[in-house]
Amino acid sequence: MRFTDSPVIELRVRDALLSIQQDNGSMHVGTTVWPCSLVLVKFAERWNPLTYTASPSPSAPNPYSSLLDFRNKRAVELGTGCGVAGMGLYLLGLSDVVLTDIAPVMPALKHNLKRNKPVLGKTLKMTQLYWTNPDQIKALGPPFDLVIATDVVYIEESVGPLLSAMAALVADTGVVLLGYQLRSPEAHRLFWELCGDVFNVEKVPHEHLHPEYAYEETDVYIMRKKL
Ligand SMILES: C[S@@+](CC[C@H](N)C(=O)[O-])C[C@H]1O[C@@H](n2cnc3c(N)ncnc32)[C@H](O)[C@@H]1O
Repeated sequence: MRFTDSPVIELRVRDALLSIQQDNGSMHVGTTVWPCSLVLVKFAERWNPLTYTASPSPSAPNPYSSLLDFRNKRAVELGTGCGVAGMGLYLLGLSDVVLTDIAPVMPALKHNLKRNKPVLGKTLKMTQLYWTNPDQIKALGPPFDLVIATDVVYIEESVGPLLSAMAALVADTGVVLLGYQLRSPEAHRLFWELCGDVFNVEKVPHEHLHPEYAYEETDVYIMRKKL
């Protein structure tokens, strides 16, 4: 389910306000904002070393301090849609990030990057990437420290190419940050079955998500390559 029918979604990240225009009437799911993207960004904001000291218990150790310290990290987002996750993490210090999706989604992404330029201070990098296209994957210049993906597991046929793209893009020492919600039982089963061959998977405990952006059906996973 999409986040809301509202034509504009706002998301506060630190002291900035992202404003995303979505088109729920389009035939492409990428022109809509999906809740996993908001959940991932707000989880990252909660534990981001830039903001963590402002949390209610500043002396408690931060289990995600290294993972979410985005300084000097290179990242790519797969199936970015309107670009919420990429833009949100950019505001948390992920300055080197490229947002990718299929051609028909590019206009919506471009529009939202432009719309948020005043808040972001620049237009983030975007490019076409089909998970099935090895040339496009290579052209991005892997490996990346971080691969971001939210709400991208919903078609069984795409699961294999998605996992291959993730494995090809992420560095051996890197991490895939996945915002996940069950969309199709078949895709779900296959994804987690194949995922176990390639990645060690850690599920973020629900109580670590941002309290205002923790939905029962939505999870964040941290995936590292099996070496
Ligand atoms: C449900 S939407 C999620 C969009 C966005 N990540 C969010 O959370 O709001 C899934 C995204 O995956 C993209 N996608 C699906 N299959 C793809 C493929 N084979 N290659 C690249 N992107 C794909 C879609 O275009 C769409 O933007």
